[in-house]
Amino acid sequence: MKILVTGGAGFIGSHTCVELLNSGYEIVIADNFSNSKPEVLNRLTAITRKPFDFCEADIRDRVAMDAIFDRFDIGAVIHFAGLKSVGESVEKPLEYYSHNLNATFTLCESMEKHRVGCLIFSSSATVYGSPDTAPVREDFPLGPTTNPYGETKLMQERILRDLESAGVLDSVYLLRYFNPIGAHESGLIGEDPNGIPNNLLPYISKVSVGKLPYLSVYGNDYPTPDGSGIRDYIHVVDLARAHVAALRCALKKKGTHVYNIGTGRGYSVFEIIAAYEKATGRKVPYVVTDRRPGDVAVSYSDPSLAEKELGWKAEYGIERMCVDADRWQTKNPDGYETIKDKFFQY
Ligand code: NAD
Ligand code: WQD
Repeated sequence: MKILVTGGAGFIGSHTCVELLNSGYEIVIADNFSNSKPEVLNRLTAITRKPFDFCEADIRDRVAMDAIFDRFDIGAVIHFAGLKSVGESVEKPLEYYSHNLNATFTLCESMEKHRVGCLIFSSSATVYGSPDTAPVREDFPLGPTTNPYGETKLMQERILRDLESAGVLDSVYLLRYFNPIGAHESGLIGEDPNGIPNNLLPYISKVSVGKLPYLSVYGNDYPTPDGSGIRDYIHVVDLARAHVAALRCALKKKGTHVYNIGTGRGYSVFEIIAAYEKATGRKVPYVVTDRRPGDVAVSYSDPSLAEKELGWKAEYGIERMCVDADRWQTKNPDGYETIKDKFFQY
């Protein structure tokens, strides 16, 4: 039995593939490299020294998906593939609704046809919209979401619940990630955004090494102790391990299950700057600007349900997240396009 990982060449998918391979699972990655690079596959081999299957395919392509399910004995699917930029989704809502929903429709149609009933889905804390209080529990009200990207996550959650209720799928595990950051300790895989990063940590990493001049801190007038926004940052390797824990449960326990995947601890933007400076010994120049529209003041998880039911808990703290993010940045100044012999060998 193999595990199909859609979007397995991406940031979270690649780290999850490492943890799956190291836990003894056989995997098939399906990715169209729309937001990743083929080089990541060499890095997965270098880290794990284990074989895996790869299919260059668009999840929205029904013929390609059927061919994957025909060729391999797939027992479960971990579904990462999709578009994920909040700002871009506001500019191109049709593209986001069409892409993300059609990817899930096509995947589920193919799963139904091939009688594969187990799905783990990448959801997001964004489905909670602007929660009134923190920590956020899974039973908090959902929405209204603040952007089309977030709405596609909420819609996909609803669709997948309905498919499970109707018996099209047997196990649906919805993992609501908070703010994934960091990189694998090898420095071989990490987050490689196209162009100028939108998210805090990739931006800080580039400022820290001088690739960008300074960080803009989006607001210091929030009702938080230092005025900047508070988030629940989680090491991507911890997040990857949450998928392995969810998979183990999903293969045994049917039904729809929802879990927050975070550390349960919030850090402000200023605390993150300080942690990054401490971890690297380099200053992170910043200026304070206006708030970014749509941002909430405080968002952090109550992750206790995942601990109770999946037996999973985040292990890494903020220092480790910053050290690993910096190792990835400094070893790969141009991401996966870095000429490898110049910086490292594997
Ligand atoms: P990513 O863009 O690095 O990875 C997504 C991968 O899917 C990429 O390799 C891309 O090439 C591939 N892909 C996209 N559309 C595809 C398609 N139609 N067919 C085949 N492959 C396709 O993103 P990520 O940060 O690793 O996020 C993975 C998932 O987790 C996404 O669904 C995202 O919405 C969700 N998520 C991410 C975050 C975050 O902060 N990174 C937070 C919450 C949820
Ligand atoms: C974190 C904090 C910003 C950049 C986003 C998506 C969410 C999820 C994770 C996918 C906030 C501040 C940021 C900068 C800053 N993705 N900031 N200067 O907005 O919590 O979540 O990624 O599902 O859906 O919305 O993450 O990293 O963008 O911001 O001051 O240049 O850093 O205001 O307080 P966010 P982020």
